[in-house]
Amino acid sequence: MGSTAAVASVMVSGSVALGQQRSPVAIGQPMPNGTELPASPPAPGRPDSVGFAIIGLGDYALKQIMPRVEQAKRAHISALVSGNPEKLRQVGEAYGVPPESRYSYDRFAEIAGNRAVEAVYIVLPTGLHAEWAERAFAAGKHVMSEKPMALSSAECDRMIAAGRRANRKLMIAYRCHFEPYNRKAMELMSQSAVGDLRLIRTEHSYRMGPTSPSDNWRVNRALAGGGPLEDYGIYGLQAALYLSGEMPDRISASTFRPVDDPRFTEIYAHVAAQLHFPSGASAQIVTSYDSAGLNMVETRGTTGSLLMRPATNYDGLTLTVNKGQDEKAYDPGDPTVQFARQLDHLAGAIRDNTPILTPGEMGLRDLRLIEAIYASAASGHAIGLNPNGTIAG
Ligand SMILES: NC(=O)c1ccc[n+]([C@@H]2O[C@H](COP(=O)([O-])OP(=O)(O)OC[C@H]3O[C@@H](n4cnc5c(N)ncnc54)[C@H](OP(=O)(O)O)[C@@H]3O)[C@@H](O)[C@H]2O)c1
Repeated sequence: MGSTAAVASVMVSGSVALGQQRSPVAIGQPMPNGTELPASPPAPGRPDSVGFAIIGLGDYALKQIMPRVEQAKRAHISALVSGNPEKLRQVGEAYGVPPESRYSYDRFAEIAGNRAVEAVYIVLPTGLHAEWAERAFAAGKHVMSEKPMALSSAECDRMIAAGRRANRKLMIAYRCHFEPYNRKAMELMSQSAVGDLRLIRTEHSYRMGPTSPSDNWRVNRALAGGGPLEDYGIYGLQAALYLSGEMPDRISASTFRPVDDPRFTEIYAHVAAQLHFPSGASAQIVTSYDSAGLNMVETRGTTGSLLMRPATNYDGLTLTVNKGQDEKAYDPGDPTVQFARQLDHLAGAIRDNTPILTPGEMGLRDLRLIEAIYASAASGHAIGLNPNGTIAG
């Protein structure tokens, strides 16, 4: 950031209009390649377990979330919602969800009468989160929404308002808040493990294969927004906030996309942002769909540094703290508990009326910062922020 190359990329992105927004629609997709369904249905939930409907049977739902729901103490899968009838049947049978609790998108409103469903987990492309959260609240259900919460702060406001009207809970599935390595890093930073914080660096990058907006929602602006920042870089943005414990008061950013690349006709390939915090610390957040893979978070302070690499993957995380010659590696527990703990957290909030660690307001905050990042990149100037993340004055 601040280099000639970064400034040049601001000028390029600022002068290029991204593709026109189309209204996104929920449409069923094929069974993801490599999906393994359970050989026998999971054991029934405990008597006080909260029944969740999974909306959208895609890669993340089928390969990461659903196989681990059985580890949850107070949550189970009680319904499925999908636009692909054959996949709905196969997944329903494998997970022991009866035919009357399997819904197409068209029949979703009928879920209101299903008492086995207390909450929904929205695992749809991002451009559909707001609409389906509103539908779920209208059906009287609590909502877990995948990250990012939505594509704009205006959509987040709508979701929060709908939850309040329905008197139902809204949680954003920021799984790292329930993951042992990230929780340990938060604890260490709150204990000044690196002294006075000066710098956070995060990178979440990989090189996406050949694709286009018509065959991959992640490069389709109406479903994915600006691209890698909302999808992957949001982990770095989140980490910068939960490790610093601060909100930025100023942001400067740049975006880049190669010309004539069908992957990037509607979205950016690369986003780099610099956040300035009131303490004087700063964070550099880089994310890319077009560079060699890296998943890394580092904090540097007056007495040492903390490194996580990978930092936010599903598994295989590392956490070390360096102080001069002294290096300490931490092993705070199995990262894969994050999926079940996240579900248990919302279930606990529903049963015990406890506060949600990652509420809709946190998702809204992050969308405000994402909007400020794009505003800075488009203008080529630093953007001042109010304490709630809205653009100042
Ligand atoms: N927290 C994490 O670590 C993590 C990781 C990956 C993804 N995610 C989030 O999870 C959500 C889904 O991501 P994914 O990777 O699972 O995506 P995916 O594999 O493409 O699955 C999305 C599913 O949504 C449904 N869908 C409905 N309308 C669609 C449309 N117009 N285009 C495409 N799919 C449509 C389909 O399910 P049916 O065929 O059943 O209708 C599809 O299989 C996103 O919000 C993403 O950001 C989070």
